Amino acid sequence: MDIFDTAVEAAKQAGTFLRESVGKVKSIEQKLGQARNLVSEIDKGSEAMIVRMIKERHPGHDVLAEESGAHGTPSEYRWIIDPLDGTTNFLHGVPIFSVTISVEHKGELIAGVTYDPNRDELFTAQEGSGAYLNGSKIHVTSTSSLIEGLLVTGFPYDLADRYDGILEHFNNFALAAQGVRRLGSAALDLAYVAAGRFDGFWEVSLNPWDIAAGVLLVKEAGGKVSDLLGAPLSIYQKQVVATNGKIHDACLEVIARGAMSSDPTLSRRRHQRPS
Ligand code: IPD
Ligand code: CA
Ligand code: CA
Repeated sequence: MDIFDTAVEAAKQAGTFLRESVGKVKSIEQKLGQARNLVSEIDKGSEAMIVRMIKERHPGHDVLAEESGAHGTPSEYRWIIDPLDGTTNFLHGVPIFSVTISVEHKGELIAGVTYDPNRDELFTAQEGSGAYLNGSKIHVTSTSSLIEGLLVTGFPYDLADRYDGILEHFNNFALAAQGVRRLGSAALDLAYVAAGRFDGFWEVSLNPWDIAAGVLLVKEAGGKVSDLLGAPLSIYQKQVVATNGKIHDACLEVIARGAMSSDPTLSRRRHQRPS
């Protein structure tokens, strides 16, 4: 069975389950003792469905999934899964959430799929083959100035415990860009950059399963992806700047004006929380 076909089928099956489960959640728990970081039996059910399909069709492949963690199977292939990206929206009945699945081969992303079950929109990318929405090729925008650019971002669940410039960046971008949105699903944020709906996205404190498929989508749609300082990005780096390429430097300049560095030591040294 083809890896890409499995990713598409798993994302669609799990996405349909999510859509049909809105309003039927029975158990909500806090993760990591954080009041805002929630997980339900639906997140877990979606993940179990996806992992079951992968194990049946590709036994021996490794899995890194949000709810069950790193499976640690020695393999050249690793599936990276967020079974429900946008849990807070889902729990409130806001129809902005997705399933996102990607595959690494020897550490390189080779396939990425993000499915929005509410709009029946399937965003797909395979390395070197372009990015697609429901089978039609998509491309990033050609917007070349930040003031004409519509951006999107997100905030970590532990925002209130942090002092590393996240809101300062938000302020600076709100003043520099045409507009800034916060949808609540990083996977869809990136898919929308790939599809030319947004010109750029930045966020910190992300996990690899939030961004893996989206990073491949943006690259295959002709966009640019980097860390906050403009260096090549690893999806394990917990941060991302993804744009149409044309406004990338302008976005990095806005970030450079803010308090945060991607070096946590430097960030702590420079920006002690005021007492
Ligand atoms: C969250 C969403 C959100 C982003 C958070 C993520 P989850 O994922 O992607 O947009 O701002 O940082 O944790 O918890 O809904 O899977
Ligand atoms: Ca997520
Ligand atoms: Ca999730």
